[in-house]
Amino acid sequence: MNIHVEKAKPEKFPCELLLLFSFESPKGLEGPVQSVDLEWKGFISTLIKQGDFKGELFECHLLHTQGALPAQRVLLTGLGKKGEFNLEKWRGAASKAGQFIRNAGIKQLAFPIKKFDGYSEEELAESFVTGLLLGVYQFNEFKTLEREKIKEIEEMILVAEKNTEVKLIEGGQRAGQIISEAIYLARDLVNGPSNDVTPTFLAEKAKKIAKDYEMAIQVLEVGETESMGMGAFVAVAKGSQEPGKFIVLEYNKGKGLDTIALVGKGITFDSGGISIKPSENMERMKDDMSGAAAVLATLQAASKLQLPLHLVGIMPATENLPSGKACKPGDILKTLSGQTVEVISTDAEGRLILSDALTYSARYQPKAIIDLATLTGACVIALGDYVIGVFGNDDVLLKRVEEASSKTGEKAWRLPLWDEYLEYLKSDSADFRNVGTRAAGAIIGAIFLSKFVGKIPWIHLDIAGPASIEKERPYIPRGGTGAGVRLLIQILRDWK
Ligand code: BES
Ligand code: ZN
Ligand code: ZN
Repeated sequence: MNIHVEKAKPEKFPCELLLLFSFESPKGLEGPVQSVDLEWKGFISTLIKQGDFKGELFECHLLHTQGALPAQRVLLTGLGKKGEFNLEKWRGAASKAGQFIRNAGIKQLAFPIKKFDGYSEEELAESFVTGLLLGVYQFNEFKTLEREKIKEIEEMILVAEKNTEVKLIEGGQRAGQIISEAIYLARDLVNGPSNDVTPTFLAEKAKKIAKDYEMAIQVLEVGETESMGMGAFVAVAKGSQEPGKFIVLEYNKGKGLDTIALVGKGITFDSGGISIKPSENMERMKDDMSGAAAVLATLQAASKLQLPLHLVGIMPATENLPSGKACKPGDILKTLSGQTVEVISTDAEGRLILSDALTYSARYQPKAIIDLATLTGACVIALGDYVIGVFGNDDVLLKRVEEASSKTGEKAWRLPLWDEYLEYLKSDSADFRNVGTRAAGAIIGAIFLSKFVGKIPWIHLDIAGPASIEKERPYIPRGGTGAGVRLLIQILRDWK
């Protein structure tokens, strides 16, 4: 979609569709909708008076202007009750309007932005662009039939009246577009099937991003990780014919900036391995690389936003399959940290590959490590598919996650890392088992990871629930969501 800002009066602006918003049962109209109403001789206020448009949240009402305005059509979209408005609703309303316009086959829209309800033009533009773009996302790569029926909006014009507003809106639009493009990347990777999105595919994607956005990249082959001592990553990777890749992408390398390590679980398909999963819903396990996808997407956005940080993205990527070479329950692995792990379930593979990736990340002496992983089904049981499970060893960092969560609307909730549960990870024959009890499974998974970060401030985000969803949300269609990307980018933008 081509998105740009133009300086014009909304009521004088020729376009296929002019998008206007209104609160529920407004006392009087204000902003762009008021100037358009005046030009239109009170058409909109009459409509509202007659009760034909109520302004309920996400209500959409399409009007044909019949030449009364330079715009061919007007779409009125409801924002709900005035006192209950926030940017999360705004993103949802932008998305619902975008979906309505797209589904109607309309190719161009213009949206006049003016600050309202205490939000600046810049904030409104960023959230509008983000909400609309995320809402109209579709994954059609593998559909070959009736492709002519696929509808897409081609152009979006943000209309501003003053030069100062143009500047602000352009800033917000740029950020919104960069962030949305990153989420499109993450969603495409998650929605892509595992016969396409292999570890090699992820590595190639990372190389392309490194080239396009001037980042340093290193892709370690399984043999190299074996020589380095990553016994846990190797144990998972060796079960598959598809070669595993240990991907390290670096933004702003060697510039003396604060270093933050982002670690993402990159299991491109999780069958469970020898501890094989039931076949029902197993197809969902193509999303087990959502953590790696989020890290890749975040680095792309960070570079386009030119964030003043040194970021190291670490993405251990492999399939988890059963085979004659696969690791088996009872096997004891030597991790890069030197600590040994007894494999109880080969299905708890995420924590195995992450243990080596976390240890590896410490080499960069980061100020913080943040890992993202579709780690446990238990986290889905605890928090459902709306909420990211948050664990961490540092209150300042946890606070940053909380703030970013409330700004972005990506819900995240802290769970404890109490040592009492470490008992369950004690092994008779090694330092740890890779599985504790079913009860408190998400916490025990996180406690396992904590043994590989030492004293470095660290956050673990369990995105098993929200990584892909069955039921669409206002600006998140079904399927891969890009969970964690907006949260991470916000943490990095706010880093001081
Ligand atoms: N990838 C799964 C976790 C998962 C489950 C993600 C459901 C999304 C939806 C992970 O590798 C796994 O299988 N975890 C096991 C751990 C258990 C064996 C301790 C689980 O959650 O059952
Ligand atoms: Zn698993
Ligand atoms: Zn897994």
